[in-house]
Amino acid sequence: MKLFSHKPLQVVFGLVLISLLAACGNSGGGGATAGNTPSSGGGSAAGANGKGCTKVGVLLPETASSARWDSKDKPLLTQKIQAISGVTVDYYNAEGDATKQQSQADAALTKGDCILVVGAHDSDAAAAIVTKAKTQGVPVIAYDRLIQSKDLAYYVSFDNVKVGALQGQYIADHYKDYVKGSSNNTAMINGSQTDNNAILFRQGALSALQSLYDNKTLTKVYDQYTPDWDNGKAQTEMEGVLTAQQNNLQIAYVANDGMANTVIAALKQKKLNGKVLVTGQDATVAGIQNILTGDQSMTVYKAIDKEAQGTADLVKALHDGTDTGTITNGATVKTKDGTAIPSVLEVPVAVDKTNIQSTVIADGFVTVADVCQGLPKGTGGIC
Ligand code: BGC
Repeated sequence: MKLFSHKPLQVVFGLVLISLLAACGNSGGGGATAGNTPSSGGGSAAGANGKGCTKVGVLLPETASSARWDSKDKPLLTQKIQAISGVTVDYYNAEGDATKQQSQADAALTKGDCILVVGAHDSDAAAAIVTKAKTQGVPVIAYDRLIQSKDLAYYVSFDNVKVGALQGQYIADHYKDYVKGSSNNTAMINGSQTDNNAILFRQGALSALQSLYDNKTLTKVYDQYTPDWDNGKAQTEMEGVLTAQQNNLQIAYVANDGMANTVIAALKQKKLNGKVLVTGQDATVAGIQNILTGDQSMTVYKAIDKEAQGTADLVKALHDGTDTGTITNGATVKTKDGTAIPSVLEVPVAVDKTNIQSTVIADGFVTVADVCQGLPKGTGGIC
């Protein structure tokens, strides 16, 4: 596999902050700021440490944007956090509504939840959740999506610029199988602009694609964010692209499997499925099926088990009042205002028809029975 030259602007590894991070584990919500400048930040974070906390609020952003939230994140987070002795989970899903997520956080705090794990629907709006939690001494762990708050205690996710780079590099490595002469049209259907991840995915993809656009190897005919990662909207977007390009399209960079599935539906209407390189992300059952049938080219496998485990490890350390530095290992991600948030970042893996077996199936992330359901025997060499 090639190495990519991407710029992980927001990812700063290797800071020797172990001792400060240890202090951070005790100062919770104010820890990241305190780690940099002990005197900065809005007053004392005393008590904001989650120590002895037995009720953890888990707030997820949506269900419709990706199958992952309900099928993976919800059960794995619940199971791993509840494996900590005496700890229970108070679960919420905002169903794509930032205002609803704020109310859910308010309800969780009222109930006495003393650590919050928040998968933000809106990375900026959710800062208000962190601010309020801090006033009540409750540390917030941003789950999967960064929250733009200097008071954030921790961030657990994947290297999201790398996710986009894997998608973009796949196109760079395989466009020749789809592009013929000057027929090199490329559409980019990105995720939601209010999700910090969507911005990082596009940034990563462009790190591999921009030079191909610049030297006209590929022609970018469309590049839009898709509000709420709305899968139905992605289909409408693709229908519009096909109409505008008179069905002349060779590459569809699509940010996740949910949107790739509806993009493929639009391609099927024009009998173009399998003739256009389509990317995805999440290694969902539907995404892997689309790869097996040849309608989707690749996906990005993110081992959510590890992401949930990293989160549970932090919850346990907060609960026990022990050092979190051995969990974050000095890794930090910066919020927009430059605050370094102690972070756990897992590694994403590109998956196409050549490595489904050795990655997502070998790991038990999907089963052969699930991905082959309804597919003819022999499909993709796996069914
Ligand atoms: C997640 C992706 C997911 C997308 C839509 C992103 O923040 O990282 O895994 O596909 O949201 O739910």
